[in-house]
Amino acid sequence: MSTVLISGASRGIGFELARQFANDGWSVIATARDPASAAALAALPNTRVLPLEVTDAASIEALLTALDGEPIDVLIANAGIAINLEAKPIEVTREDFLLLQETNAFAPLALAAALKPNILAGELKIATAMSSLMSSISANDWGTQYTYRASKTALNALWRQLAQRWAPEGITCTLLRPGLVATQMTGFNGLPVEVSVRGMKAVVERLSLKDSGRIIGYDGTDVPW
Ligand SMILES: NC(=O)c1ccc[n+]([C@@H]2O[C@H](COP(=O)([O-])OP(=O)(O)OC[C@H]3O[C@@H](n4cnc5c(N)ncnc54)[C@H](OP(=O)(O)O)[C@@H]3O)[C@@H](O)[C@H]2O)c1
Repeated sequence: MSTVLISGASRGIGFELARQFANDGWSVIATARDPASAAALAALPNTRVLPLEVTDAASIEALLTALDGEPIDVLIANAGIAINLEAKPIEVTREDFLLLQETNAFAPLALAAALKPNILAGELKIATAMSSLMSSISANDWGTQYTYRASKTALNALWRQLAQRWAPEGITCTLLRPGLVATQMTGFNGLPVEVSVRGMKAVVERLSLKDSGRIIGYDGTDVPW
């Protein structure tokens, strides 16, 4: 049985990833900031819920201790935030910008780096993170979402770097694009979360080293850089 670790699984895309992998017989390690209020997650089959605040180094350390070297086949660094998407340039604050960078770019890197020994001990050796079409510079013809776009573009740069560094050790580092999905983040506008996650799960299950460094959508198409 393969093992997947999913961050930010309390709701939205993360929860649905946990549900679909668990129902398919995978062993799921689902992380939530507050496991006590994640009863639906804990009720999934083959699923263990562990606490994780991705911006807190001590929380990542506690996760490592709880895992005690357990192999992880697939990491999905999913936890993320979006705030003040419609802010004009003058309304973009340093606080918002840094919070988004910390949560959406630095935290996935810190989590992957900390879990590298577990990923190396796994059979599949796959590290993914949740990017977005909003990360793309060449596809940006909107002029909105300053902090969110910058954070996901930074995530892409970091993951591409990991892809180069870790490929010689057999780890596939790939970015995923869910599409516009109906979750709390989007005010429940967009694709049904089941559809997006079914697509991304199929992408993850087909990944191999040759996909390292790509940004792959739920529909199997690449996001332009
Ligand atoms: N929905 C879309 O259309 C869309 C499109 C492109 C990319 N994405 C990306 O997909 C990922 C999931 O988004 P979603 O739509 O499912 O959003 P969501 O419904 O708002 O869920 C976000 C999840 O991330 C967790 N989280 C946020 N900050 C965290 C932190 N500091 N530490 C630990 N967990 C944290 C939340 O936990 P709590 O319950 O504790 O808050 C929640 O489980 C994000 O990275 C997002 O940027 C979404």
